[in-house]
Amino acid sequence: MQHFLSLADLTSEQLRDLIDLAVDLKEEWKQGGNRPLLEGKTLGMIFQKPSLRTRASFEMGMLHLGGHALYFSPFEIQLGERESVTDVSRVFSRYVDGIMARVFGHNDVVVLAEYSSAPVINGLSDYNHPCQALSDFLTIVENKSKDLEGRKLAFVGDGNNVATSLLFGATLMGMDFAIATPSGYELPDDVWEQGERFAAASGSHLFATHDPQTAAADADVVYTDVWASMGEEEEAEERARVFEPFQVNQALLDKAKSDVIAMHCLPAHRGQEITDAVCDGPHSVLWDQAENRMHAQKALLVDLMAEDRL
Ligand code: CP
Ligand code: NVA
Repeated sequence: MQHFLSLADLTSEQLRDLIDLAVDLKEEWKQGGNRPLLEGKTLGMIFQKPSLRTRASFEMGMLHLGGHALYFSPFEIQLGERESVTDVSRVFSRYVDGIMARVFGHNDVVVLAEYSSAPVINGLSDYNHPCQALSDFLTIVENKSKDLEGRKLAFVGDGNNVATSLLFGATLMGMDFAIATPSGYELPDDVWEQGERFAAASGSHLFATHDPQTAAADADVVYTDVWASMGEEEEAEERARVFEPFQVNQALLDKAKSDVIAMHCLPAHRGQEITDAVCDGPHSVLWDQAENRMHAQKALLVDLMAEDRL
């Protein structure tokens, strides 16, 4: 891999390979610490939006691997405003060994990658959130099995960036994917078409509905995300009204398999898209999911930036 902008750029083998490496690095870290596979390397991080998990997991991941992370808040670089994206990319990539960027418009990470002499990682754009989905498939594999054929992931909520990456990940891994959104909030057509191509190759099944209970039926994983993403704050009130029937609560989990796991990329708006009872209940894997951001991204950093895996 040269860059990591979308799971749709990966083959099924590459995704499985990253998950295997993440499992190894997690085990190694739990046994006492990682080898310094990124000694002397620096990851430059550009944020146009707030973050807890993405910043902390990349920064700690670099530290554990013997490297360093350099953080720029939304007020510093001011991507495309203080300086063009192309110039930022040309300059920044001369200082660092990799760039992670969280942006509004997806095209900004595409342009960063085009002009960068170092690998570029998409830390969330309006289009997708590949680091989240990579980590989530580590969590799903840990809780279910390595072979996800015949397993079902149900996403309930907005057809957004997180749903997009989960669709790509599921169809690459051969897992069935059902999504329930309100009318008008479906996944974009091009995302669905790409998912169909992956599904045809992996044998997984895709299903879109406006009924949460149909999507959740017999699911192994029920996943949700905020109803209004960063940048959509002005729509929050309207969306809260439209999405009300799409809450992940115990009644919805009752439609799924008895050993269903409930997932949320966080931050959660408890009482809106997910209830306290689900967040803190026996099916929740939310905290392992958040921790796995660090382990999965270590695999990504090693793949993109290490001289070798030793
Ligand atoms: N899930 C996630 O990306 O969290 P942050 O926005 O806190 O980074
Ligand atoms: N869909 C959310 C995910 C946050 C991690 C957003 O883009 O704000």
